Amino acid sequence: MRRGLLTFVLVNLLILSFIIRSVSTLLSLLVEDAAADAIQLLELPPPNSNLIETRPQIIPKLIHQTYKNETTPEAWVEAQKSCIDLHPDYEYILWTNEKSRDFISAEYPWFLDTFDGYKYPIQRADSIRYFVLAHYGGTYIDLDDGCNRRLDPLLAYPAWVRRTAPTGISNDAMGSVPKHPFFLRTIELLQQYDRSWLLPYVTVMYTTGPLFLSVIWKEYMPTKPSESARVRILMQDEYNRFSWSFFTGNSWHGEDARFIFWLGQHWVFLTTIGFALAGFVGICLWWIYGRVVLLGTHYRYRYIKLPSISLSCPSSSPTRRARRMMPTLLRRVSLEEDEELAGVTKTSYELGRHDD
Ligand SMILES: *[C@@H]1O[C@H](CO)[C@@H](O)[C@H](O)[C@H]1NC(C)=O
Repeated sequence: MRRGLLTFVLVNLLILSFIIRSVSTLLSLLVEDAAADAIQLLELPPPNSNLIETRPQIIPKLIHQTYKNETTPEAWVEAQKSCIDLHPDYEYILWTNEKSRDFISAEYPWFLDTFDGYKYPIQRADSIRYFVLAHYGGTYIDLDDGCNRRLDPLLAYPAWVRRTAPTGISNDAMGSVPKHPFFLRTIELLQQYDRSWLLPYVTVMYTTGPLFLSVIWKEYMPTKPSESARVRILMQDEYNRFSWSFFTGNSWHGEDARFIFWLGQHWVFLTTIGFALAGFVGICLWWIYGRVVLLGTHYRYRYIKLPSISLSCPSSSPTRRARRMMPTLLRRVSLEEDEELAGVTKTSYELGRHDD
């Protein structure tokens, strides 16, 4: 019985380590603080300062935003205007549904089926931003993010994304030079990540959204990109909280808050799913355990118990004596018969174990 328990624990550990291995990137995201690539406040000139920015600005002066059509909803008009007004010398492109599709179909036809096939419009809004950054370079800003200061200092990095609390990065404000390896990799992997995860929120997050981007980023970092291929991280304080931050608003209806609201609305459903999943995994483990024990039993009796049978019943029966003299090959064939014997011994073996 003790050996059985040990096997069960070992099998569980094995399965657990397999699961952990397959979600290791997600787990490692939880402890990633992005400190190594953070854009330090000291690197940035204070807003409205007369200090001359000496670093070359390599990201093109181009702002991308997305919306389904040209009519910006009332709530976002001000935010959109703040970005346009602060950057009169920047080119501005609003990627509407129609414009996005035309662009993909003209420049990235291999992606058009995936793009059209996305179930949720937000997946198209997510993916188009990676394509335009990889293609033209520039700065992408969500339509509900207002601009608090000019983007110029951020143009000095080959690419930047922004940190989200408590973990990972977001895709609501990002900048890049054209053909940056990180965004090339991102658009290349979109198809591979395109699958349904049952729940709409998870599907969106993990096929095109911030979770998808975070995983790609986490796997991109260990490739030790050269300085020109690095992805720098705009931390929370430089993102939107303070007078020196680049953007405004948005924090309370950002992805994290949305996720928490969503959890709140669906907790009964999620709990049910959780229990069902745990039950299912439990049953699977029990089934696998049963199989393994069975296998072990067969193995033991075939190769360990059998010789002891012939030892404990020394040549008493004429058939057995005859069989021992059979060539090995034939003996194997007659093992089936032995199995019946093994079954008998197994019962007495277990009975014997009960006593101690
Ligand atoms: C854009 O979409 C909104 C809402 O669906 C609609 O009211 C508006 O007329 C559309 N604008 C244009 C230019 O088609």
